[in-house]
Parts: sequence; structure tokens; C-alpha cells
Amino acid sequence: MPLFVWKKEYSVGVELLDEHHKNLFGIFNSLYENTMHSKEVEYVLPIIDELQQYTRYHFIAEEKYMREQGFSGTDDHILKHEDFAERINNLYSQYRDDDLEVTIELIVVLGNWLLHHVLEEDRKYSKIAQG
Ligand SMILES: [Fe+2]
Ligand SMILES: [Fe+2]
Repeated sequence: MPLFVWKKEYSVGVELLDEHHKNLFGIFNSLYENTMHSKEVEYVLPIIDELQQYTRYHFIAEEKYMREQGFSGTDDHILKHEDFAERINNLYSQYRDDDLEVTIELIVVLGNWLLHHVLEEDRKYSKIAQG
């Protein structure tokens, strides 16, 4: 059972950004499963890398979209993205310290953060969620 499942209700009404969110949930799921089952540094670190890179890629696309739409909450939203990026950095160092329990906990906390971010913050720029 994957931990984070994207649902139709999470849609922000922009196909590309919905795809990104689905992929992010997918990366979280494989991160969680790999950390739980393999516990091997060589399997997990590349996924944290992927999460870091994909998050950056998604945030750039989303911020560009918000600016293009003239969304008034853009600056505030960007700060939240920066906070999330920093938390992923912490996850990275935590994993390097080899504290697996903390790592698993962090993955769940971060995944939940993402879920809430998509459901609450990302909806604020969404046109389909306004009406
Ligand atoms: Fe997003
Ligand atoms: Fe966002």
C-alpha cells in the first residue's frame, strides 16, 4: 500500500502541475518503501537526491505559473517552498547520520507536509478551487 495517494480532488486545474504532484507523491512512496525494506544507503540516497531535484523542478514551474497568473500570494508561497527545500536538506543529513528511525519519521512528516501544501497552499492559486 503506497503511503501517499494522489486523488482527483487534489487537482489544481493545471495538468502539468497535477502531474508533478503525482510524481512527487510517487517519489515519497518509493523513498518510504526503500527506507523501510532495504535500509541500504546506496538505494535510498539516490531517491533523496531525486526528491531534491524534482522538488526544485516542480517549484520553479509552479512559481512561474503563479507569476504568470499574477497570483497575489506568490511571494508568501515561495517562502513555503524554500522552507520545504530546507527540510529536505535536513532529511539528507539525517540519512547520512544513519539514523533510520528518524529518517522514516522525517519522510512521513515531509510527505504529510507536501500533502497539506498541495491541498491548502496550492489550491490558493488554483482557479478550479475558487468557485
Ligand atoms: Fe505544488
Ligand atoms: Fe506550492
